Order: sequence, then C-alpha cells, then structure tokens
Amino acid sequence: MKTIVYYYSHKGSNRYLANRIATDLKCGIEEIKPRLNSHLLMLMGINFGNRKLKVRAEDYDKVILCGPIWMGKLIVPLKNFVIKHSDKINKMVFVSCCGSTFEQKDQKFGHNLVFNEVKKLTGEKCIHCEAFPIGLVLPEEHKKDTDAFMKTHLSNDNFKGEIVGIYDNFIRQLKGL
Ligand SMILES: Cc1cc2nc3c(=O)[nH]c(=O)nc-3n(C[C@H](O)[C@H](O)[C@H](O)COP(=O)(O)O)c2cc1C
Repeated sequence: MKTIVYYYSHKGSNRYLANRIATDLKCGIEEIKPRLNSHLLMLMGINFGNRKLKVRAEDYDKVILCGPIWMGKLIVPLKNFVIKHSDKINKMVFVSCCGSTFEQKDQKFGHNLVFNEVKKLTGEKCIHCEAFPIGLVLPEEHKKDTDAFMKTHLSNDNFKGEIVGIYDNFIRQLKGL
C-alpha cells in the first residue's frame, strides 16, 4: 500500500502532526502551498489556488490530507486540493489538529462539519476522518482557556498523555485501512 501525506499548516500543529504520521507510516510527505499564503485573505475565502504539487496523488493508493479548521470550514488550500485531485485519488483520510473538542464536534465550529464537507466533496473515497483537538495537550486547568488554546501548538514537548493513545490507535487503524 503506497501512502502519501499532504498537509497545510499555518501555525505548525498540523505540520507536526503530518510529519509524525509520515514518519510512523514510513511514507512520503508534501506541503500544500497556496499561491498567496495570506491567512487573512484565505479566511475571507479569497482564493488564488495552490502551487503545483511535486508528487502526484494518483500514484498512491492512499492519500492522507492534514490541516487546520477555521470558522467551521474546510480551509481554502485544503478545499482547492480536494476539488483538484479527488477524481484521481483512490482513498483519502482527512486528519486535523483543530480547536474544537470531541464534545463540540457537532457544534457551529466543530470538526464534524468539516468532516461532512470533505465526505460530500470526495464521496466514498474518504474512508476515515480523525480530529486531534489541541486541548488534548493542555493541562486540565487550561482546557477551557481560549488564550492557552491559541498559543499552544503541537510539539515533541507537549505530545504526551491522552493524545498519544488516540494517535497510536489512529496509526493502527491507518495501517489496516
Ligand atoms: C482564525 C481561526 C479560526 C479557527 N476556527 C476554528 C474552528 O472553527 N473550529 C476548530 O475546531 N478550530 C478552529 N481554529 C483552531 C485551529 O484549527 C487550530 O488552532 C489548529 O491547530 C491550527 O493548526 P496549525 O497550527 O497547523 O495552523 C481556528 C483557528 C484560527 C486561527
């Protein structure tokens, strides 16, 4: 099974997660680069498309797409990727280090909204979606602290405790998919 990880990250958490997945699966990885990497313009939905990828998604059995969630939406660079490549992709897994917790997943800005958007765009090709809420790496006393949420990014220093079990289970599942 040939697998490739594509990712977009603004603050680094999804870069960390994507690299970790690629290392554990011993597979290739490529960053999705928007032509204009302006956070503000992307948040406004202004879209100049992505730069051409070096690695062709159609050469792989399984594509893992990794990136953040903003305002309850599939963000512009990830949406561009899905729209451009979904007809050539064989199987896709979507994974996000996001802000919404498991309890909030179905709320207005919850990750399930984005998972549903991805599934709608890719149909049966999307075989699995997984969220890694950033709150998993926060100490109990900061789990509801918005400031701590915004300032925390995944790293080797905080990738410990609860998140490890969820991640290991995800990797086991990925190997079986
Ligand atoms: C402007 C903005 C909007 C966000 N909106 C959401 C959201 O609607 N739902 C969510 O789960 N997380 C949301 N987040 C949190 C990000 O998904 C989270 O911080 C993510 O880990 C950032 O990934 P990165 O470090 O790879 O850029 C938002 C973050 C920003 C900066």
